[in-house]
Amino acid sequence: MILGFLGKGGSGKSTTATQMALHMHARNFSVLAVDADHNMDFAYNIYHGDIPSDMHYFGGALTYVLDHVGLASGEKYDRAFLGNTDARFHIFPHDACTQMLAHPVSDRFACMAAGPQTDMVLYGQSCSHILTTPLKVFLPLLELADNQVVIVDEKAGADGVSTGIVTGIDVGIIVCEPALHSIKIAQQIADLMKFYETPYIFVGNKVSSDEDRAFLHKHFGDDMVYMIPTVAAMKQDPFAYHSELAPIYDAIYARATELNEQNRLERTTEKFMRNHSFQNT
Ligand SMILES: Nc1ncnc2c1ncn2[C@@H]1O[C@H](COP(=O)(O)OP(=O)(O)OP(=O)(O)O)[C@@H](O)[C@H]1O
Ligand SMILES: [Mg+2]
Repeated sequence: MILGFLGKGGSGKSTTATQMALHMHARNFSVLAVDADHNMDFAYNIYHGDIPSDMHYFGGALTYVLDHVGLASGEKYDRAFLGNTDARFHIFPHDACTQMLAHPVSDRFACMAAGPQTDMVLYGQSCSHILTTPLKVFLPLLELADNQVVIVDEKAGADGVSTGIVTGIDVGIIVCEPALHSIKIAQQIADLMKFYETPYIFVGNKVSSDEDRAFLHKHFGDDMVYMIPTVAAMKQDPFAYHSELAPIYDAIYARATELNEQNRLERTTEKFMRNHSFQNT
């Protein structure tokens, strides 16, 4: 399953994505962590603040991804879903393209990152969304076994959803602080997810009082089931796995699995085509 962590800036996407990745690894899953944000907080957390210097960032690797599925540069991505190719991406063991982009973290754990802004972005030939373009082809064509999970940490806000990864993720995890602006963005993201017919789960984060809980319930009603407390130690040490939160992450994963099962039948070529026709640029 491919989970995409979404939400307003600072809501806790990278922190919760890190905990989910560490948690699923502790549960014996093979994990691919995908950092789609050029701030690279997720990769920073996964590598304990020491991102390997030989990482091959996917932000500048679109042609490798397109080559792998037999698409020429400039060709519309939806051709990859039209049966023009039966090339797919795989992890553990990785196919040749993924092998280049996914850097090992430990046994059953790899990480790939969009990386910092490329020259295309810095010199104004493209906006920074181009960094996640490879994911539009990679994620929908990534075949996973049941004991494999991909955790994607997306950029802040609703923008990344409509211009990036939504076609490829199975379930969105919309992270929301008990703060009005965070709630507003979470709801904007949920509206986009509905438009793209992709299921999502709201997760409250940094919930530290009854007042916080009541505030989230007031805005989300029964849609707000999972709430992660403020854990002071996480601010200074975002690398460590907090096993005391395991029941919450188990519950989120179980719900995501349920939603994904319901949605899987609907994840047709037709739906990919429809979303890609919106997202082809
Ligand atoms: N449950 C938590 N308990 C304590 N601190 C938290 C928690 N979740 C997040 N934080 C802190 O909140 C800040 C923002 O978290 P994080 O970087 O994960 O947010 P983000 O949504 O990924 O932000 P950005 O949009 O900048 O990528 C960090 O300092 C992090 O340590
Ligand atoms: Mg982040």
